[in-house]
Amino acid sequence: MAIQYFEQERVFKLDTPNTTYLIGVVDEEGYLGHLYYGARLENGQGLGYLLRTEEAPFVPSKNNREKSSFLDFFHTEYPTGGVGDYRESALEVRNADGFTACQLQYQDYEILDGKYDIPGMPATFADAAQSSHAQSSQATTLRIRCVDSVLNLEVILQYGVFEDVDAITRSVIIQNHDDSPVYLEKVLSASIDMDMEDYEMLTLHGSWARERHIQRNKLVYGRQSIGSFRGESGHQEHPFIALVSPDTTQEHGSVYAMSFVYSGNFIAQAEVSQFDSVRLQMGIHTQGFSWKLDPKETFYSPEVVLTYSGNGLDHMTHTFHNLYRNHLIRSPYLHQERPILINNWEATYFDFDREKLLAIARDAKDAGIEMLVMDDGWFGKRSSDDSSLGDWFVNEEKLQGGLSYLVDEVKNIGLKFGIWFEPEMISPDSNLYRAHPDWAISIPRRDATQSRSQFVLDLSRPEVIDYTYEQVAKILRSAPIDYVKWDMNRQLSDLGSVYLEADKMGELSHRYVLGVYELQERLVTEFPDLLLENCSGGGARFDPGMLYYSPQIWCSDDTDAIERLQIQEGTALVYPLSTIGAHVSDCPNHSVGRTTPFKTRGDVALAGTFGYELDITKIPDADRAMIPEQTAQYHKYHELIREGTYYRIASWGTNHSYDCYMVVNQDKTDALVTYVQVLGQANVHTKKMKLKGLDAGATYELEGTSEQYLGESLMNAGYIVPKLWGDFQSILLHFIRV
Ligand code: GLA
Repeated sequence: MAIQYFEQERVFKLDTPNTTYLIGVVDEEGYLGHLYYGARLENGQGLGYLLRTEEAPFVPSKNNREKSSFLDFFHTEYPTGGVGDYRESALEVRNADGFTACQLQYQDYEILDGKYDIPGMPATFADAAQSSHAQSSQATTLRIRCVDSVLNLEVILQYGVFEDVDAITRSVIIQNHDDSPVYLEKVLSASIDMDMEDYEMLTLHGSWARERHIQRNKLVYGRQSIGSFRGESGHQEHPFIALVSPDTTQEHGSVYAMSFVYSGNFIAQAEVSQFDSVRLQMGIHTQGFSWKLDPKETFYSPEVVLTYSGNGLDHMTHTFHNLYRNHLIRSPYLHQERPILINNWEATYFDFDREKLLAIARDAKDAGIEMLVMDDGWFGKRSSDDSSLGDWFVNEEKLQGGLSYLVDEVKNIGLKFGIWFEPEMISPDSNLYRAHPDWAISIPRRDATQSRSQFVLDLSRPEVIDYTYEQVAKILRSAPIDYVKWDMNRQLSDLGSVYLEADKMGELSHRYVLGVYELQERLVTEFPDLLLENCSGGGARFDPGMLYYSPQIWCSDDTDAIERLQIQEGTALVYPLSTIGAHVSDCPNHSVGRTTPFKTRGDVALAGTFGYELDITKIPDADRAMIPEQTAQYHKYHELIREGTYYRIASWGTNHSYDCYMVVNQDKTDALVTYVQVLGQANVHTKKMKLKGLDAGATYELEGTSEQYLGESLMNAGYIVPKLWGDFQSILLHFIRV
């Protein structure tokens, strides 16, 4: 049983294969306390002692549970503001009279088979029916009902507990049973209080073209937070946080992690209190957020995934990879080989026409590429980034004969066809804006901020959602299109909507995200065979929320193979390689000006959904001649990379010289190691890589040689990498069990 309630002690016990999570109720006041999260405890009896009901009054005397000394000390399961706990709350409510305190009291609970879902939002699910690779599909839901009897507010804490993976999810349902509205000023989805054990905080930091670099800092007293209030999860900080013990490596150490299944504003925070407890929290960012909850209305918070690993970062990564592969991504492509695409963005930017695209398609077909993706610039009068977003009709000056002619020609060549959209946007210079200026998010009488010469559509408005959907769907209905790249190239600002009433304006950012989800839900429902790739100026919306709709996301606009090592390492810390859009591009690289060998570019892009982003008609002959070899390599390894277990072996970001990672299949018969020598060094030892995940007792042969090694020696003693000559050199090592 994944969830048990011990009546006498009033303790809830939530178990995953290797972890236990305990919640307890304080008899007198009905406070809900957090007792424990960590390594699995087999026996649930007698754990009530972990409910810490000490208090810390000013004077060394007992003070009858004064709330200020008790609540500020107590390890709370879902903290509320205003009544004595001065640490960061998870819930803030303002009632119609302007009062802001909230205090929850436990009422009752229910345990349900299966995993709860969240209306209108992405969430993990138990039923992995689509997945033949899932070991088990079981999950159980716990709902704990609490009330604030003064506000007449019901708060249901939901927990999803998985049986095949060490993940526990949390989400909150809030219902207003009063006759007056209340205003939710803050609703975090998860909060846990733990003893502070010298933790470090690990997060993913970045920028445009530099996404998800791993950052690790010692926790100190006070609050340390990351977040986004850009309207999307963002390039800069990422909706993931982990607390790790100082000794944590890939294989050792305690790791508590949270990942947010949401694509908008977020906060992730750790607060070390005066009493050496640490509160770890995640949810929608409070900045600008307010939600009016009318009588009888319900608010659902997005979902946070929690995991604990007692065995370092590898186990955390495997938990997220397995959870997201088997219990989040719904696309039929999840377990399928994705077509090798060629995208014309870096090849032509806006400067293309039908003949140019067909020339690329012909050469691509000859080289073994399988799909042409037409990127930005095919619609309206768009020939640079300053117009036409919203005018989703084909520019026939560029594409003579229209879209269906082009698609037919591409199909005659023997390629699939994909197309780029940026549906959430509106250019001031567009027919759409001239007809509906109030459809752009903006504040009346204030000049709205332009970014990339564009505004964002107000997706809190149902008619804007309907119109936007029809524009995209009309194009997709007009020709046999196999793939869509759904882009989003600016962040939200000037948060105003003429549709929302004054006291609902704080809902705009969340309603915007709900609008995006509705659009993508409609899209995957009407076009179930479409391969959807999300994108946001590269990787600004690479988050679990988007993976619910698309099996892959463009990882970064930086396609330089060396820069990509760190970007892909940080991304793969949480997300399966099968989700990471990675392409080979031309050199000197358009982002950094670096020239790397074509082979290295191919080897690095292989650790993702493989493709090309270059003008194949113009690249050097030697590079072009290598493409058939690379596409064959993709066909050979796609399943291993998509379905296998990923291990990080060495990191260029920390050793400043080389990078190494590997993927092993479930049967441990097949392993692919990627080694990149970033900088050559004179007169140094060869490098020895300790491999992982192999069968210790088995013998492996290195393909292309007659060398044989025992799994245990490859893992414990290591494999000696052959000497490479020069900078930016890579080698793929394929070990096969004999
Ligand atoms: C974003 C994407 C790019 C490309 C451009 C087109 O930056 O990340 O891949 O599609 O938009 O404008």
